[in-house]
Amino acid sequence: MRKRSSDLLRRLKRVEEGDFTFVEGDFPPVIKGAKGIFVEDVDGNIYRDLTSFFGVSMLGHSPDFIKDEAEKGFFHGMGDLIPAEEKILLLEEISALLGGGWKGVLVSDGADAVEACLRTALLKRGPGMVVAFEGAYHGTALGALSATWGEKFRERFRQVLPFPARFFPFEEASLSRIEGLARRERIMAIIIEPIQGRAGIRVAPNSLLQGLRELSYRHGIPLIFDEIYTGFYKTTKPFARDLYRLEPDLIALGKALSASFPLSACMGKGEFMDAWGQSRGEASYTFTFSGNPFFCRVALRTLKEYRKIKAWEKAEEIQEWIEEGLVKRGIRIKHRGLGVLHGFDFGKEGEGFRAFRWFLERGWITLPSGIKGEVLEIIPPFIIQKEVIDQFLRELSAYLRL
Ligand SMILES: Cc1ncc(COP(=O)(O)O)c(C=O)c1O
Repeated sequence: MRKRSSDLLRRLKRVEEGDFTFVEGDFPPVIKGAKGIFVEDVDGNIYRDLTSFFGVSMLGHSPDFIKDEAEKGFFHGMGDLIPAEEKILLLEEISALLGGGWKGVLVSDGADAVEACLRTALLKRGPGMVVAFEGAYHGTALGALSATWGEKFRERFRQVLPFPARFFPFEEASLSRIEGLARRERIMAIIIEPIQGRAGIRVAPNSLLQGLRELSYRHGIPLIFDEIYTGFYKTTKPFARDLYRLEPDLIALGKALSASFPLSACMGKGEFMDAWGQSRGEASYTFTFSGNPFFCRVALRTLKEYRKIKAWEKAEEIQEWIEEGLVKRGIRIKHRGLGVLHGFDFGKEGEGFRAFRWFLERGWITLPSGIKGEVLEIIPPFIIQKEVIDQFLRELSAYLRL
């Protein structure tokens, strides 16, 4: 029994909106600290985190360079009004990593970046239908929610979603249907995750992405890749688009960008971002914390650290350890994985959440996911050791024998 956790959870239920945290007795543990892959709860229990907390802390929790950056003592800036140097350096760096010639806008959450991409498409192309995919998760703020699939997110807000969207199966066969739609109606944008994260690591078929690129060129439709989950070496490449050797027109980035803080980006090829025009004194899309200098400094250090540790090689290694470990232990489970992104598909509705709780009680943090909650996911940080992966696979094998 986690006594302190259950006391705090009772207090949480009194002050937090009820649909936010699922609470049952002393579940979930309330955490008080995290360093590297270790997380401590308020009752003194230690957990090994295999999720980088939603794929964010890819260098482990609380890396020391954040303290160095905090010591510089400059934290908040003036967004669109008076730029901080760090913002300029970070935009330059992201643009260069994308291949040069990209422009963008820095925002906070993933949903903000997705919305900025959709707004850019609207400005470039004019209003029309958004093509999105079954299983897609783009965030829950209204703009992003327009393209997020799944009734549980949409049902109560359907009437106020700003962008009309049509969802297609995440497969090649959808191309001819999207082509048909493009002939009948104006499509404002196509938005896709090259690898669907929250749906349980579903990798888009190459033929679907290549076909979408051709179709979108043919009809002049902006193609948006949502790489909030997949960006920054998680797939062994800087971006998942590099696996497919494809260039979208707009890309949404977040999570691993700052490896700890709410910092996201909507980036686009110059001619797309130029659809915003030039400022006449006041930005038309801006937030108080846009391009926060402290977050930008941390992001610059994060990107430097990824290069230093050759994060792409770590991702390859982690993939090998998992694939070899599954074979060595004879673990028979439907597994989808690439780099550090791995989904174990139990094929049974809700089993991902049951497994998540089981692992948590044994000191492991994993993620329940999948369209029907049938998947257990891990996104270990680049700094994970092979022994930890081996121990996890031993536990997975035990879980499957239950
Ligand atoms: C692919 C993708 N897009 C968008 C989002 C939304 O990001 P945020 O929760 O930061 O708004 C997520 C979050 O998991 C995501 O995985």
